[in-house]
Amino acid sequence: MAEIGKDIFRAKSILEQGDLVGIPTETVYGLAGNALNPDAVTKIFAVKNRPNFDPLILHTHALEKVYDFTIEIPDPLLKLAQRYWPGPLTLLLPKKELVPDLVTSGLDQVAVRVPNHPLTRELLSVLDFPLAAPSANPFGYISPTKASHVNDQLGNKIPYILDGGSCHVGLESTIVGMEGDKVMIYRLGGLDVSAIEKVVGKVQVMAHSSSNPKSPGMLKSHYAPQKPVILGDLEELVKDYLKKGVPFAVLSYCREFPGLPQSFQIQLSLQKDMSEAAKKLFDAMRTLDSLDVSVILAELLPDEGLGRAINDRLRRASAGEEGKY
Ligand code: TXA
Ligand code: MG
Repeated sequence: MAEIGKDIFRAKSILEQGDLVGIPTETVYGLAGNALNPDAVTKIFAVKNRPNFDPLILHTHALEKVYDFTIEIPDPLLKLAQRYWPGPLTLLLPKKELVPDLVTSGLDQVAVRVPNHPLTRELLSVLDFPLAAPSANPFGYISPTKASHVNDQLGNKIPYILDGGSCHVGLESTIVGMEGDKVMIYRLGGLDVSAIEKVVGKVQVMAHSSSNPKSPGMLKSHYAPQKPVILGDLEELVKDYLKKGVPFAVLSYCREFPGLPQSFQIQLSLQKDMSEAAKKLFDAMRTLDSLDVSVILAELLPDEGLGRAINDRLRRASAGEEGKY
């Protein structure tokens, strides 16, 4: 298992040697390596078991630093950066040659973000290179929101995890780029669409696609637990699965099921607070995934604000499971 601690200088020295460190961000934990060292980047793909056509996000601590890696920041994206960095926003920008092709999977745009977590910002500010960091989970599984999640799945493959507690946002960053002069959202995430539209006007949200995605975070089946997730009307699903005699767990927005054991149901937010629901979502999925049940029954949230990103993750967690059980 990995060593877990808060020592940024220990993390720094491991990263300088070309090895990897689990890092906290406000969205989810990242699996970080020196983005300018192709050996370190190769390790990231290997540890995650991630296909190398799926590019990585580059993390740095200040907007000024981003100009080292990009040819230009188009005006609308610059406005977003000025308003929301540090924060749960990733921008797709034309890359400079300095950024290894491995990081961008050969694409001519690089994804960049300035994360908002005190430990990681401090770490980034003492490093003289940016960090490439995908979410610190095996490819296709749920993103980690606690150091222990990283340790459970990748602890035997990395030396150190920087422990920054539970992630405040709990959903991955929103990925934004341009097509011509249009601002596009490639992945719904922790910064909601209305916050973006407040700064740049109406934007288009790309529907996810399972073939040849521009951003594999757009893959239909992704962010998935091992147990099948069945989405629908929870009252009906619960009745149905009780009748079938198939053991199940329940993931609801706020509804409680008094007839079911407490430990087999999780409410994302009894107060119907979307931010609380987002923060709890991945940890709840992991907890239910570890129970001795055959399926996880879940419901969508109201499709507004952060609910859109939460529903996106729930749909992808359930993709392909219809009719399986
Ligand atoms: O919140 C986050 O974004 C977290 C934390 C650790 O920063 N990171 C994260 O990374 O979620 P990852 O690798 O799990 O998801 C990054 C997404 C992938 O879907 C990838 O395809 C897309 O960003 N992406 C990265 N570089 C890209 C590029 N050059 N063009 C298009 N999509 C890109
Ligand atoms: Mg990921």
